[in-house]
Amino acid sequence: MSIVLEARGLSRDYKVRRGMFSPVATVKALADVSFDLQSGKTLAVVGESGSGKSTLARLLTMIEEPTAGTLRINGIDLVTATKADRRKLRSEVQIVFQNPYGSLNPRQTIGDALEEPLLVNTNQSAEERRAASAAMMARVGLRAEFRDRYPHMFSGGQRQRIAIARALMLRPKILILDEPVSALDVSIRAQVLNLLVELQDEFGLAYLFISHDLSVVRHIADEVMVIYLGHAVEMGSRERIFSSPQHPYTRALLSATPVADPDAKKERIVLQGELPSPFDPPSGCPFHPRCAFAVDKCRAESPVLTNKQGRDVACWVID
Ligand SMILES: Nc1ncnc2c1ncn2[C@@H]1O[C@H](COP(=O)(O)OP(=O)(O)OP(=O)(O)O)[C@@H](O)[C@H]1O
Ligand SMILES: [Mg+2]
Repeated sequence: MSIVLEARGLSRDYKVRRGMFSPVATVKALADVSFDLQSGKTLAVVGESGSGKSTLARLLTMIEEPTAGTLRINGIDLVTATKADRRKLRSEVQIVFQNPYGSLNPRQTIGDALEEPLLVNTNQSAEERRAASAAMMARVGLRAEFRDRYPHMFSGGQRQRIAIARALMLRPKILILDEPVSALDVSIRAQVLNLLVELQDEFGLAYLFISHDLSVVRHIADEVMVIYLGHAVEMGSRERIFSSPQHPYTRALLSATPVADPDAKKERIVLQGELPSPFDPPSGCPFHPRCAFAVDKCRAESPVLTNKQGRDVACWVID
């Protein structure tokens, strides 16, 4: 088991103007987030809409640069990496989006879509590329005759298999999955998740799996990171997070999810209020305005992640 990606203190700000005459405001979409990704393992990232999950995905795939913090992939620091290194690292990290329709070119056949990354990044011959795409199609459960068809001719589940196949053509070490099964029917969802689990084992892939669906996270994650307004509030093994969540926000998220065992004793914490505006984030702990346990210190000082009960939690109140 080896660490393939190290993120330290990753932050991303966006400068936005909310009206023609209003001053430029700063949105802290991601604030000081640190974690490792390990080959063959899945880190799930959960949090409400607008908490910064896709921002994190864009930083890891080098679509955007972090405002602060460092990112090391395969031991190479992205800040000091040479152009050639960066190019190489770019092919090591691939992404699959919620809606593969947006990432597949409607005028490109499936075969061409799969071979394009090889055409651009390798010296493989046409025959080699064709053999590689055929092998990958078979691997993800797509029939050989599909290669000459276009994206609109497929169902949502098949299109997601195509997107996964394309992401794997350059044999990356890391796959960023941004809500990969959220748009799929429940029956199809399980099939695609099982495929992802098999591919992870076979290729030794590290997954960063973004989802707001905790039943999916419970199925696929090794580690879980809970983010709130761009801050990591709790991080630990799947077992610990699901069996004994500590942060009041994690507990509220979990108490809102149905459990399989109807006899299981369950606290019910209802989240108060809305997610605050990211333009005007709360002082102190970002969660304090919605927290039933908040004390004065929570309004004044921002808690840092600290190891408690075998996982990291950012909370002044629990111990
Ligand atoms: N390019 C941008 N310019 C300005 N603000 C942005 C930009 N991208 C994201 N944001 C803001 O950053 C915050 C985090 O957005 P992000 O898309 O990362 O959230 P998310 O967790 O992926 O949400 P969702 O679950 O809805 O996909 C939001 O407040 C969003 O409005
Ligand atoms: Mg998103």
